[in-house]
Amino acid sequence: MRKPCVAVVDDDSDFASYLKAFLLVRGYEARCYTRGAEMLASLKQTEPPDVVLLDVMMPGLDGMATLRAIKSMRQETEVIMVSGRNHASTIVEAVQLGAADYLVKSDHPEGLEEIALDVAIKNAIEKTRLVTELGELRQLADDEHQSGLGNGEKMRRIATVIEQVADSDVTVLIRGESGVGKELVARAIHDRSTRRNRSFVKVNCAALPAELLESELFGHTRGAFTGADTTRIGKFEQADGGTLMLDEIGEMKPALQAKMLHVLQDGEFTKLGSNKRIEVDVRVVAVTNRDLEQMLSSGEFRKDLYYRLKVIEILVPPLRERRDEIPTLTDYFIDRYSKKYNRPMGSISDALRQLFQQYDWQGNVRELENMIKRVIILQDEGLAIREIQRHRHRKAAASAVVTAQPPVVALPVTAGFVIPAGSATRGFSYQSELPGTASGADDAGRSLGSVARTAALKAERAAIEQALRLVNWNRRKAAVNLGVSYKTLLNRIKWCGISRV
Ligand SMILES: Nc1ncnc2c1ncn2[C@@H]1O[C@H](COP(=O)(O)OP(=O)(O)OP(=O)(O)O)[C@@H](O)[C@H]1O
Ligand SMILES: [Mg+2]
Repeated sequence: MRKPCVAVVDDDSDFASYLKAFLLVRGYEARCYTRGAEMLASLKQTEPPDVVLLDVMMPGLDGMATLRAIKSMRQETEVIMVSGRNHASTIVEAVQLGAADYLVKSDHPEGLEEIALDVAIKNAIEKTRLVTELGELRQLADDEHQSGLGNGEKMRRIATVIEQVADSDVTVLIRGESGVGKELVARAIHDRSTRRNRSFVKVNCAALPAELLESELFGHTRGAFTGADTTRIGKFEQADGGTLMLDEIGEMKPALQAKMLHVLQDGEFTKLGSNKRIEVDVRVVAVTNRDLEQMLSSGEFRKDLYYRLKVIEILVPPLRERRDEIPTLTDYFIDRYSKKYNRPMGSISDALRQLFQQYDWQGNVRELENMIKRVIILQDEGLAIREIQRHRHRKAAASAVVTAQPPVVALPVTAGFVIPAGSATRGFSYQSELPGTASGADDAGRSLGSVARTAALKAERAAIEQALRLVNWNRRKAAVNLGVSYKTLLNRIKWCGISRV
């Protein structure tokens, strides 16, 4: 390990020799200079010392001028003034200029309080070490974030926007499909802001019924409602000084949206069951994968809140639109999970990498992450190959039906959601005749257009049924998985005549 280096700057050569011996005996490397200018020149050429012991009264550049120059060249250099002068004004000036300590020489060199010198040097070296370590940790964290956010062109552009908005307190609306990394973006905004040492608080607006969500956000007083046994602070108060991430904001009911708008505008709110106004300083980041514009027209989302939230909007693209990130993300997840699960795994085959590169990743980064996790835990990359190939076959089978007769509404083909036409439809019933089409297998005499419409509707109906079945008839989830808005799905369910048995 490198010895800590201490520079001595003193025109008194006897005293400088004494200090040098003092330092060498204690295991330091010592560099001696008789002039301030000499020391400054060396600062430009050699590795900087950890600590400088600096005389005040010197010919040429005196101690104060040298101190000022050292600090302007390299702020983090620790300087201890060692002087025969003990005027209060000089000491104050040195400290104001950034000196770490001020020690007074007595008439004889040995008269300097050695213990004080020893402690002052040790403290200064410790401070240098901590500052260096902190810098390295910050760098590491920055690198991690950078790689965590993705190194592709699109994510780099998002990273630039994050840098630009982090320190303003404007509300940011983050949008994108499920699993693209919206939460990661929200965290990056917090971590890059001056709020980073305060809380980052998350609330999932879809996880709680409306009344509970209100109390979760704003807190409640004792007795505010049945079951409110104690007074509770809400997430807004928890996030005071920090950032509040409102996840799935599209699921918030309009009444609560109104209260939210009020908080965003005035920075204050009341707890449930109380009239007392509480002021908070919270930066709100809202996240959604819903089609808010469509929700505006259906009245499910308030226009005023919408415009208040989308001061800055960040759209995180799906992974299939930023394929340049797939190799780096793959390596990142392999490294991360082989360490986490203690399953060393060099890499994956080129064949699998190629499949990764072509696959459409409907579940985005989360799907890639989970697939790699499975491969690592089971130590079997064949399973990923088979999964992707199965998906391809399903997709090909579905498009064989759909491309021959384009559907009325293009529902995206989603992994695991498309079943070949004619599959079992257990659990569902639907009209025997699709609206506007003839039923039956006898297509003779019908126009091609009519045949196409019937087949397309059949394929669409099969896809919708399968999607609904997989999520136990949760239409919101099914809509997300099918990549259409909730309203569109409801219309299509009605149109295709699907109902739950
Ligand atoms: N660029 C990335 N680097 C590393 N991991 C990532 C990246 N993007 C996303 N992930 C990982 O993918 C998973 C999904 O990311 P995240 O939760 O941020 O997505 P989301 O868009 O919020 O999804 P949802 O809409 O389902 O909540 C997480 O485990 C996250 O750590
Ligand atoms: Mg999320």
